[in-house]
Amino acid sequence: MSSSDHLTLRRPDDWHVHLRDGDMLRAVAPFTARQFGRAIVMPNLVPPVTTLADAVAYRRRIINALPEGGPGFQPLMTCYLTDTTDPDALAAGFADGVFTAAKLFPAGATTNSELGVTDMGKLDAVFERMTEIGMPLLIHGEVTDAEVDVFDREAVFIDKVLDPLLARVPGLKAVLEHITTADAVEYVRGQKDAREGSLGATITAHHLIINRNAIFEGGLRPHHYCLPVAKREAHRIALRQAATSGEPWFFLGTDSAPHEVGAKQAACGCAGIFSAPAALELYTQVFDEEGALGKLEGFASVYGAEFYGLPLNEGRVTLARGGPPDGEPVNVDGSGAVLPFHAGRELAWRLKTNEEERS
Ligand code: NCD
Ligand code: ZN
Repeated sequence: MSSSDHLTLRRPDDWHVHLRDGDMLRAVAPFTARQFGRAIVMPNLVPPVTTLADAVAYRRRIINALPEGGPGFQPLMTCYLTDTTDPDALAAGFADGVFTAAKLFPAGATTNSELGVTDMGKLDAVFERMTEIGMPLLIHGEVTDAEVDVFDREAVFIDKVLDPLLARVPGLKAVLEHITTADAVEYVRGQKDAREGSLGATITAHHLIINRNAIFEGGLRPHHYCLPVAKREAHRIALRQAATSGEPWFFLGTDSAPHEVGAKQAACGCAGIFSAPAALELYTQVFDEEGALGKLEGFASVYGAEFYGLPLNEGRVTLARGGPPDGEPVNVDGSGAVLPFHAGRELAWRLKTNEEERS
């Protein structure tokens, strides 16, 4: 339902988020739980979430970090794949309903990926088992070769790694996470009739909003640095077109990835953009600018759930025109603060609180 200044949507889900652990978890998780019904929680903790027991314990810590245990929010857990992941153990975690998906980080591609996969060929038995049981493989789609230009790493991954993988393991259900290029948009589109399996893609709010110039605007801007890194404007336009197209293989995944200010503003700053406090507002702004508010619910609340074979959320959220929440740094107990992506940004929409909705 929408009028010119209100928009009501089925409660959305975030199909890719980093909630971290400890004090950071307590600081950031309530933002995600406030906006989304479910979230696919990334397993790149230190040490990573590689076993069913790790995932059960981490899920408990997430729920404990939320006010009143986060009623109405369900964290969906993922298994961090390594070169030695055991297909039977992974399948058991999926059968138990603990693992919703498995995450493939090429070793060295991004934050806390050191223990990730060094050789995709070693995991074919895992991918085959996942195909048999219908378990989704979530892919950080970048090659790690130092000789490949950082802006080309996604496109090269699609050619050199993803396409051969999907040819080798027909029927594998996969999500190319946080796509950043027109190449990825075209590749995902091209799969829809081509293979037995299905390939989806998540798109972040920040990749719909910034291009790579934002990283260098008037000086080095560490809060605009994430992986995959933002690309040129033509790619941003392709992503906006894909997200607002109504094609069901493109769905919402914030990749909200908080790092403390000191870790971002450093000689070797961490990759990751923290968008959780205004994630839905940021997407709404983009869809509004594209004249596509009518397409937002599919992207945010329907296509991801359908891809994962999960029921749609029953609840609703309402957005109102009138400016986002403030973009103040979010305090992390004991250790500092995280700066949200919307700090200093003009945004026209605001998620109404439960109290406002009731009144
Ligand atoms: C993520 C993180 O910080 O965990 N960083 C990022 O830039 N997106 C890891 C990831 O998803 O690549
Ligand atoms: Zn991520």
